[in-house]
Amino acid sequence: MKIIHKPNYKEAKTTDKRAYKKIDFQIDQEQKNVFHGKTYYLKTYGCQMNEHDSENIKAILEELGFHSTDCMEEADLVLLNTCSIRENAHNKAFGMLGRLKHLKETKKDVLVGLCGCMAQEEGVIDEILHKYKWVNFVFGTHNINRLPDLLLENMRSHEQQIEVFSREQDLIEHMPVKRDNPYKAYVNIIYGCDKFCTYCIVPYTRGRQRSRAKEDILEEIKNLQKDHYQEVILLGQNVNAYGKDLYENYKMENLLEDVAKTGIPRIRFVTSHPWDFTDQMIEVMKKYKNIMPAIHLPVQSGCNRILKLMGRRYTKEEYLKLFYKLKEIPNIAISTDIIVGFPGESEEDFQETLDLCKTCKFDNAYTFIYSARENTPASKLIDHTSLKEKEDRLQRLNAVVNTYFKESNERLLNKEVEVLVEGVSDKKNNYFGYTDTNKLINFTGEHVPVGSIIKVRVLDAKTWSLDGKAV
Ligand code: SAH
Ligand code: SF4
Ligand code: F3S
Repeated sequence: MKIIHKPNYKEAKTTDKRAYKKIDFQIDQEQKNVFHGKTYYLKTYGCQMNEHDSENIKAILEELGFHSTDCMEEADLVLLNTCSIRENAHNKAFGMLGRLKHLKETKKDVLVGLCGCMAQEEGVIDEILHKYKWVNFVFGTHNINRLPDLLLENMRSHEQQIEVFSREQDLIEHMPVKRDNPYKAYVNIIYGCDKFCTYCIVPYTRGRQRSRAKEDILEEIKNLQKDHYQEVILLGQNVNAYGKDLYENYKMENLLEDVAKTGIPRIRFVTSHPWDFTDQMIEVMKKYKNIMPAIHLPVQSGCNRILKLMGRRYTKEEYLKLFYKLKEIPNIAISTDIIVGFPGESEEDFQETLDLCKTCKFDNAYTFIYSARENTPASKLIDHTSLKEKEDRLQRLNAVVNTYFKESNERLLNKEVEVLVEGVSDKKNNYFGYTDTNKLINFTGEHVPVGSIIKVRVLDAKTWSLDGKAV
């Protein structure tokens, strides 16, 4: 039977205040190991949320009997977990579909699937229905749990399965997970986003804001501790909104405090929208040493007129006020995201962004050229700035922000920093890991236990990393 559920933006935008039903993930006994001996190749694009979804997808596939391969050409199943955030993410996935078409011509039996944020786009699904009829199955961000059924249905009927829901479904708990890193773990705390920044497609691809129950989050973290995980990264598009949709009186600061009290050695959380960052959160961060002094606080622009057009809900002045409050946390590192070339951004507006960067001297910054996304309000704005001019702004911005990354690293010279050791590099007695402020450090040492947190003296500072020696 052919299943067709297409995404619909109108529906995706709607909000209702229903309580989301929670269901436990289950795989039918007769589905287990049906693909025994088969291999899969999973390619992930996009943010940590997608990376973590892929960790679930891998575990589901392995319960079905698949094992992973690094060689796409050899795989029996190729699955693309896609991202919609900018045009180039799109192009990469479509480029890959092009390669897969050739593969399918020589290897008819290979199954090809597409999931992730692009699957939630109306335009993408139309294109798949018309131009990519050979794609075997598609599922969206709201129904990862349906992967076994869709795969099996495709195997039985040989018909293309497309199942994408515009609106979020039930909250699925206890999905199996195959984590990529044995020392640090992603933990979802909130799904979706209600901010609707005018340039952004995420609220349409990930649905409305839904918090996971605190008990489920804490249980997951306690189990991670039992498995000797050293670090948890609390995930959400806007983690600071945690709890708002679920509890009267339990917010991000409460969750942070409860997670800190578990005693897990390191806690991080991404991403923070400045709007929901409370003073109480800052107090909790100051109080608990296991909450890492590193905050990702996207500013997007330093110009109030553009911020308003972006629908970011804060002014440059309000951002700076929060920034300085956070700076009171000892040794804190603050990173950001910036978009250049938003429709109507003038050279003067851009200069304001440069000025803000010179004021904040961010420890790290991810910079992007604005990319118009299907169905977003900003995509309807008139944009006179040429791509060449935007590229030039990006270059000038990068030149400024990069100098501060190096300066921020240089401030650590000859200091001892705490490092979670994550692995051994090629050279003998060489290790790498991340500092509390989330900086990559390569260092020498003898018999250093990988997976432990140790002190390292910083001996050299580069733009993107540090060098040091275990103390
Ligand atoms: N939820 C996070 C951001 C998620 S997307 C937040 O609000 O901070 C990561 C970054 O991609 C954004 O911070 C933004 O800088 C960038 N981005 C999002 N949409 C974009 C677009 N249409 N064009 C260019 N960059 C975009
Ligand atoms: Fe997109 Fe804004 Fe939501 Fe971030 S807060 S995911 S930029 S809409
Ligand atoms: Fe991309 Fe979706 Fe993440 S659009 S950035 S994978 S939420």
